[in-house]
Amino acid sequence: MGTRIGVGLLGLGTVGCGVAGILQTPEGRHPLVAELELVRVAIRDLQRPRPIALPESVLTNDPQAVVDDPAVQVVVEVMGGIEPARTLIMRAIAAGKAVVTANKAVIARHGEEIAAAAAAAGVYVLIEAAVGGGIPIIEPLKQSLGGNQIERVTGIINGTTNYILSRMAQEGVAYDVVLKEAQDLGYAEADPAADVEGLDAADKIAILSGLAFGGPIDRASIPTQGINNLQSRDVEYAKQLGYAVKLLAVAERLNSDVRTSPSLPLSVRVQPTLIPLEHPLAGVNDVNNAILVEGDPIGRVMFYGPGAGAGPTASAVVADILNIAGIRQLGEVNGNVDPLLAASSWRSCHLVESSDIRHRNYVRFNVVDSPGVIGLIGSCFGERGVSIQSIIQVDASEAGAEIVVITHEINQGQMQDALTAIASMPEIKRLAAHLSCL
Ligand code: HSE
Repeated sequence: MGTRIGVGLLGLGTVGCGVAGILQTPEGRHPLVAELELVRVAIRDLQRPRPIALPESVLTNDPQAVVDDPAVQVVVEVMGGIEPARTLIMRAIAAGKAVVTANKAVIARHGEEIAAAAAAAGVYVLIEAAVGGGIPIIEPLKQSLGGNQIERVTGIINGTTNYILSRMAQEGVAYDVVLKEAQDLGYAEADPAADVEGLDAADKIAILSGLAFGGPIDRASIPTQGINNLQSRDVEYAKQLGYAVKLLAVAERLNSDVRTSPSLPLSVRVQPTLIPLEHPLAGVNDVNNAILVEGDPIGRVMFYGPGAGAGPTASAVVADILNIAGIRQLGEVNGNVDPLLAASSWRSCHLVESSDIRHRNYVRFNVVDSPGVIGLIGSCFGERGVSIQSIIQVDASEAGAEIVVITHEINQGQMQDALTAIASMPEIKRLAAHLSCL
């Protein structure tokens, strides 16, 4: 028998129940799981029926009582939302307690403040469950890939939108219809805004970017486009052209001399993106998540699996608790933390202007069906240095025609100039879609 570790749980929702379930059934798991004791659990409403049986003595509706309980050594925050989660995490740190959290919204916005407080107090704040649910990606970035210079992290890191996009592609169903079905099935939240507008993915890529590149970035500055305005015809056209459409979160370093640059320039963005069907991310469907990490010397490594849900997320939470438990069993004292596990920032990073980013583009125009329109669009792109990879008229009727263009990689400032010029031509009714393309 080792030293038992007191665990305090803030929240008994889907993830909290998953964590409690693992702690209650240590048989067949690593022996350290049996050393974890769930000593206090904060729930919102003591009267509400609970999906998991817990002794009444551990339950409270006062989350602060959990943080302050002297028997609690590890505070597990799975309540979500910014407040009071942030304040409770800071309170736990101030009390010298380790924290495990699945809260991407708090870490993406207040990660620096939390990391600084944790470093000052000499405690760990571990966040494996905050990104990718059950997929191990935080610890690999912090530890297993530590010898690499990371070039790019590309993720499908929102299960709800990936489910919706997969159904749109497979069945040709409209966005609104699939969203409603996803809500009825419990895959999408009643208020799906954070997912479908790309905000959840932006929180997660902010966190991954900080770990991959060693410096925090301003969450509020991440250009974010969700799937809420995506038309099923673009998903269909993409498929015909040999692409899948995915909500991609990308963080990439731009060319700079790291020896002389005081701050590393990055592009971090979330946008619906066409992915060639042969690309490893194109086959990631339904609620699954995947993160492709590219670095030197490793090349490409992809992490794939269930990005949400009670079991997968609890798996990540318990792994973090075990990391802390293992270290405590070594007798390590507060104030002496493993720098890789603690993952403090070691560099300054900044986001470059969106207009300076280069990528391929998919655009769809509604046009007048008259001779020479394709030529006009082609000339306008050409005059502004935008090279076209393919251009097709996909539909023509009395109401007009649709022209779809895929460009070669181009600076987005130039691309916008060209689109503005094209949209002002009388033959062009409107720019109906503009998506990124890998
Ligand atoms: N709402 C998230 C998703 C799961 O759909 O991926 C929690 O991060």
